[in-house]
Amino acid sequence: MTKTLLVTGAAGFIGSNFVRMLVKRRESVKIIAFDKLTYAGNMANLADLLGDQVVFVKGDICDPAAVTKAIEDYRVDEIVHFAAESHVDRSILGSGPFVQTNVVGTQVLLDAARAKDITKFLYVSTDEVYGTLPEDQPDVKFTEETPLQPNSPYSASKAGGDVLVRSYFHTFNMPLLTTRCSNNYGPYHFPEKLIPLFVTNLMEGKQVPLYGDGKNVRDWLYVEDHCDAIWTVLQRGAFGEAYNVGGNNEMTNRQITETILKAMDKPWDQFVKYVQDRPGHDRRYAIDATKIKEHLGWEPKFRFDSAIKTTIQWYRDNEKWWRDIKSGDYLKYYDTQYAGR
Ligand code: NAD
Ligand code: TYD
Repeated sequence: MTKTLLVTGAAGFIGSNFVRMLVKRRESVKIIAFDKLTYAGNMANLADLLGDQVVFVKGDICDPAAVTKAIEDYRVDEIVHFAAESHVDRSILGSGPFVQTNVVGTQVLLDAARAKDITKFLYVSTDEVYGTLPEDQPDVKFTEETPLQPNSPYSASKAGGDVLVRSYFHTFNMPLLTTRCSNNYGPYHFPEKLIPLFVTNLMEGKQVPLYGDGKNVRDWLYVEDHCDAIWTVLQRGAFGEAYNVGGNNEMTNRQITETILKAMDKPWDQFVKYVQDRPGHDRRYAIDATKIKEHLGWEPKFRFDSAIKTTIQWYRDNEKWWRDIKSGDYLKYYDTQYAGR
C-alpha cells in the first residue's frame, strides 16, 4: 500500500530537494508538502512537482490545529520534519523565531504525531548541535556520542528540538529517528548561505564577504546525498537512534571561495572582501559517519569537484529564481548583515 508522508519545510532548500528526489525515483509514496512559506520557503522550488503524488498545504508547524488537520485530511502515516529557521546569522540578529519554530514547532509536531499514532517520525537535525572542533586535531570528529554543545542561537534551537525528540522516545516510546548532517550545497539553496551567496554575488559582479580569517572548516555534502541518507534512515533506521551524515569533505571557507572563483574565472584580489567575523563563529565541523555506513550501508555518492560545478551551472541556468529572491526584503537583510562590516 502507498504510504503518505508529511514533509514539513518542503518548500525550502533540502525539503524541496527531498521531494524532488522521491518523485524522480518514482518512490511509491504520496507526499503532503507542508510549509509556512517564510522568507526561505518558495513555491518555485516545488511548482513543477505538484500533482497527484505531491500536494501542497500552507501551514505553520507551531499551529496544532493546522498540523492535526493536515494529518487527518490526508491520513498521514509518516513525518519527515525539515521545517526550521535555518540561518545562523539571522539567529544572531534575533533568536525568537528560531526558538518558536525549531523548539516549539517540533514539540507541536511530536504531540500531534503521538496523538495520531504516526508510524515513523524523522527529525532533520544538524551537526551544529555538537558545537565546534579544534582545528589542530584533524582526527577528532563528531560522533553520535559527542555531547551536544551548541554555540549559536540557531544550533541551540535545533539542539532543543533534537533533545525533545530524544525525550519523546524515552518517555513515550514513539517511532522516532534523528539525522545530524553537515553543511549541504546544491540547487535551490537560498542565497544567504555561503556557497549560493558567493556564486550569485559573483554573477552580479559583486564582491564576496569572507568572515574573519576565512579558515573556518565545514564538511560539505551535496544535497542529494543528504536526501538519500534521510530516505535510508527512514526505511531502515532503528527507532530512538541518531545518525550522523557527512561528506568526508572538510574544506576551509578560503578553499571553497578559491574553488568558486576559479570555476567562475574571477580574480581573488578584486572579488574577495575580508569582513568582520561572525560572533561565536564555530571553527570547525567534521562528521564521523561510520554508524550510518556500517548499520545502514549509506555513503555519499557525489564528489565535491564535480557537484560544485553542477551547482554553479544550476545558478547560471536559473538566474530568474535567485534574482527574484535577491530583491525586496532580501536587500534589507543584506544591508543589515553586511553594511559597515
Ligand atoms: P531552509 O531555510 O531553506 O528551509 C526551511 C523551510 O521551512 C522553508 O521552506 C520555510 O518556509 C519552512 N518553515 C520555516 N518555519 C516554518 C514553520 N513555522 N512552519 C512551517 N514551515 C516553516 O532550510 P534548509 O537548509 O532546507 O534546512 C532544512 C532542515 O535541514 C532544517 O531543519 C535545518 O536545520 C536542517 N539542516 C540543514 C543543513 C544545511 O546545510 N542547509 C544541514 C543540516 C541540517
Ligand atoms: P553558512 O552557509 O551560513 O553555514 P553555517 O554557518 O551554518 O555553517 O556559512 C558557512 C561558512 O561560511 C561559515 O563558516 C560562515 C562562512 N560565511 C562567510 O565567510 N561569509 C558569508 O557571507 C556567509 C553567509 C558565511
